[in-house]
Formats: sequence, structure tokens, C-alpha cells
Amino acid sequence: MFHITIRKNYDELSREAFKIMKDTLNGDHTPVLGLATGSSPVGLYQCMIQDHKDNGTSYKDILTFNLDEYIGLPRDHKESYWTFMHENLFNHIDIPSDNIHIPLGCGEDPAADCIAYENELARHTIDIQVLGIGSDGHIAFAEPGCSFDSVTHVIDLTDQTRSDNARFFDDDIDQVPKQAVTMGLASIMRARKIIMIATGANKADAVKGMIEGNQTTDCPASILQNHPEVYVFLDVDAAGKLRLEGANA
Ligand code: F6R
Repeated sequence: MFHITIRKNYDELSREAFKIMKDTLNGDHTPVLGLATGSSPVGLYQCMIQDHKDNGTSYKDILTFNLDEYIGLPRDHKESYWTFMHENLFNHIDIPSDNIHIPLGCGEDPAADCIAYENELARHTIDIQVLGIGSDGHIAFAEPGCSFDSVTHVIDLTDQTRSDNARFFDDDIDQVPKQAVTMGLASIMRARKIIMIATGANKADAVKGMIEGNQTTDCPASILQNHPEVYVFLDVDAAGKLRLEGANA
């Protein structure tokens, strides 16, 4: 079930998304957070940092699991998702490093690392999972064609994803890794609640496919139609192709 919020302004959208996150942070037990990288959740992470500074919200006992990591980039590479998460969130809150889980993309045996990650994930239930969506409909790096039953695995990135992400690699697609480790769609669906953030006209088709399209692995995000509690935060451009019924605009 989708709860859709549409705002013109990204900061406002991020503050709305943070309200859902804050409910979970203030809940009756210490939560497990599922986190995403990319542009979409940066404003939400800024709200979390501000709240930590202003209100002392503590992450000392919170566990986090990230969705994905490029294969082949060392952790200290400036575009690794390990670096992204530390720069955009972890370095600014009081989370202990042992509580942070990010798939390993630079190990000697990625397949074994995927199994280890999924096994660790299976020991916990993610209370709230943050997601963005790719212009090709991917969530995490579960690209079109990825099975709805998938768990953490190695995936070949589509040309579209590599082209979209070239902006982080000097606009040079050749620098963008060709593979990633990603949580699977079944792994993601186990989360109790989901926050999905999407902005920009280049996401409008994917957002329409996710919410109003047929459920198909051609649009991996359409699996979320089966999830009981998905909070979708869209700017006007990303919502541009929706019929908009029931949206909180
Ligand atoms: C990143 C991830 C991806 C991104 C998606 C959108 O951890 O899982 O699915 O959320 O590619 O990226 P942005 O937000 O940069 O448009």
C-alpha cells in the first residue's frame, strides 16, 4: 500500500520523509535501519544529522544495513557507497562502526560475501528501509529482469544505470563500475516500512511503473505494490505521469 506525498521543494519533501523516519527512531524498540545511497536520500540524511545535533537522538544502539555497493571500488574510493554513507551520514552521528553494515564490493569472493551479507541480514528485521528508484525502475541495484525472489547477489548494471551514475564519475561512463553487490527484492520486501524518495522528470516513467504499472520484473520497483506500508515522497516532476488519486499533494 502506497502513501504518496508530493511536494514542489526537495527540502520540504525530505522533511516529510524524516517525519516517518523519526516515528521509527522514537518507536518502542531500537530500530534497524535499511539505508540507500545516491542523490535522493541526502536531504533525509541531513534532517537526521540535524535532529541528532538539536535533539540528541542517538544511534549508539541502532544497526544499519545498506542496500548495495559497487564491485571493484576499494572502500576508501571517493565514489564507493562506503565513503558516501560516511560522508553523508555516519561521520555526523554517534553510530558505532560495528553497527554499520555495507555490502563488500572489493572482496576476493563476492559470491561468498553476498551469502554472508544475506545471512547477517536474515538475523534482523529492518524496521524502515530507505529507497530511491532508478530511471529504469531498479530499487537497490536490482535491475530490470531481477527475480522477485532474489536475495543479496552480484548484478550487472544496465547501461542506463551506468549512464545515470556517470555524473558521479567525471561524466565518464567508462569509470562507472560494471557490476555491484545488491540486496535482492525479497530481502527488501522483508522490511516493516519503506520510505521511497524520487525527484526529477527522468524518474516519472519509473514512478508510474512502480505505482500504476503491471507488476513485472521489467520494473523491479513494481514489487512494492505488494508491500503493506510504503511511504512515497515525490516532487512534482517525478509525479508528473501519475493519475494522482489519493496523493497528499
Ligand atoms: C543506491 C540505490 C539506487 C538508487 C537509485 C537512484 O543505494 O540503491 O537504487 O537509489 O539509483 O539514485 P539517485 O537517488 O542518485 O537518483
